[in-house]
Amino acid sequence: MSRFWNEKTRNIEPYVAGEQPKPGQKIIKLNTNENPYPASQKVKEVLDQVEVGTLARYPETSSRMVREELAKVLGVTPEQVFCGNGSDEVLAFSFQAFFESGEGAKPLLVPDISYSFYPVYADLYNIPLKKIPLKDDFSIDVSDFCTEEGGGVAFANPNAPTSLLLDLADVEKILKAHPDHVVLVDEAYAAFSGVTARTLLPKYKNLLVTGTLSKSHSLAGLRLGFAVGDPELIEGLCRIRDSFNSYPVDAIAQRVASVAVADDGYVMENVRRICETRDRIARELRNRGWTVPESKTNFLFASPQAVTAEYLYTKLKEKGILVRYFNKPRISGYLRITVGTDEEMDALLTAVDQIVGGNET
Ligand SMILES: Cc1ncc(COP(=O)(O)O)c(C=O)c1O
Repeated sequence: MSRFWNEKTRNIEPYVAGEQPKPGQKIIKLNTNENPYPASQKVKEVLDQVEVGTLARYPETSSRMVREELAKVLGVTPEQVFCGNGSDEVLAFSFQAFFESGEGAKPLLVPDISYSFYPVYADLYNIPLKKIPLKDDFSIDVSDFCTEEGGGVAFANPNAPTSLLLDLADVEKILKAHPDHVVLVDEAYAAFSGVTARTLLPKYKNLLVTGTLSKSHSLAGLRLGFAVGDPELIEGLCRIRDSFNSYPVDAIAQRVASVAVADDGYVMENVRRICETRDRIARELRNRGWTVPESKTNFLFASPQAVTAEYLYTKLKEKGILVRYFNKPRISGYLRITVGTDEEMDALLTAVDQIVGGNET
């Protein structure tokens, strides 16, 4: 605390990211939903060819090359695509561009359990927030989302940390219930579900879908996120970007992202492998008596049998395996476990069996 902090800095509760290993520390990292496989070989080729001279110039402001490649793969036009420094930044810009702030503004509707950055952005930008409780099975309560009056809606689909998918018929009900406000569908994990609300874009001008190269494209370290929506919404995002930082995506990131996006076959093969590992480990854990909802993401939301989630999180950490534990109401009995390689996940199962069986080695 410093006496120079303003009221917002004093009072805000910042987002807490999953812990990062110290340099040189050998761990199995299953705590931040990264992709265990390397990015496309095309990325390596681009990086090998980078000439430092190009960095003397500012990058192109709108990430045109990336937008063009994304448009081809996503089946939209480049005018429907916005790129930012990770989808976190795109979410932050969207909150500023589309949701009203200040006393008396209609609240933004979000699930009570969802990506924990949403309440932080709402607080940062003084956007009133109404948290709609998930149902007992952790699914999104569509009828509550439809009947509540709000100044906009934001949710992740599939949702995090619950890993559950809301089907498109339900997403459409929410869009229809809020025709005068933006419904933001955060599709950070959509590649692992095979379902996207982008197919609804021709019908709904109030739909904004965000996505990221961090998970499916193995590029969490690059920071490239995007939004897809009506060109008027994209223009709104550009207005916010150009009132904050005209160059959110650096020149190297733009080149790397465009080749990574173009190599869609490689990306989808990794996604397929991850989904296969995910479903195998979910079965293994259920065989051990765990509660594991059907994940449509690259992580499992899983409640252990015989020991508490907190105990298991701590013991796994001692063994060099990092998973995510949220000490929060309703979900403190669960771990969020990122799907790693088959070898990493087998090591996890072995460690779990040792800890739960009391056969510590
Ligand atoms: C639901 C959700 N949305 C957005 C993000 C942010 O992704 P990035 O900023 O890496 O694009 C994450 C990251 O974990 C996430 O879980």
